[in-house]
Amino acid sequence: MKDFLNLAEERYSVRKFTDEQIREEDLARIIAAANLAPTAHNYQPQKVYVVQSQEGLEKLQQLTHCTYGARTILIIGYDKEKEWKSPIEPGYRSGVQDASIVATHIMLEAWDLGIGSCWVDYFKVKDTAAAFELPDNIEPVLLMPIGYPAQDSKPGPMHKAYPEQNTFVEII
Ligand SMILES: Cc1cc2nc3c(=O)[nH]c(=O)nc-3n(C[C@H](O)[C@H](O)[C@H](O)COP(=O)(O)O)c2cc1C
Repeated sequence: MKDFLNLAEERYSVRKFTDEQIREEDLARIIAAANLAPTAHNYQPQKVYVVQSQEGLEKLQQLTHCTYGARTILIIGYDKEKEWKSPIEPGYRSGVQDASIVATHIMLEAWDLGIGSCWVDYFKVKDTAAAFELPDNIEPVLLMPIGYPAQDSKPGPMHKAYPEQNTFVEII
């Protein structure tokens, strides 16, 4: 593995992919990284659908313009019945956080393998669940097109727009 900070700095949202499908062994490593993600109480409520069929990809193209020609798109979500529910803060639940950590593991492991990805929230969530006939207990959180970056793929203008000098950190 690359030095982690270098990997985090290098990674950017890839929005243009080659036509090559990702290798099965790469997908297996990506899924392994998803499996290792920490989740609240280790309840592991994450759910990852790997969409690679032409029919599935076409459905997603109807549900968002953010598919970027990828030949693999992940629907990442969680099981509402399995997520942790706080006993001390009514209504506070962990599913979105758990799914987000899983997605982050996927994104970074993918990059380590030379595979690009883009986190996509801009999609019709309810229509996606309906189009893929997901069970009622599964809540999609994000889509993630993944694939080998096209030769002319480059970081978007917002890639380096980090808060200046870590201004989001406050010691209290
Ligand atoms: C929660 C979240 C939602 C996002 N939704 C979208 C999206 O719908 N479409 C898209 O093209 N990029 C989306 N992005 C990617 C961001 O625009 C991108 O991460 C940000 O501009 C920084 O650029 P970088 O990833 O290249 O460093 C999303 C990222 C996050 C973390």
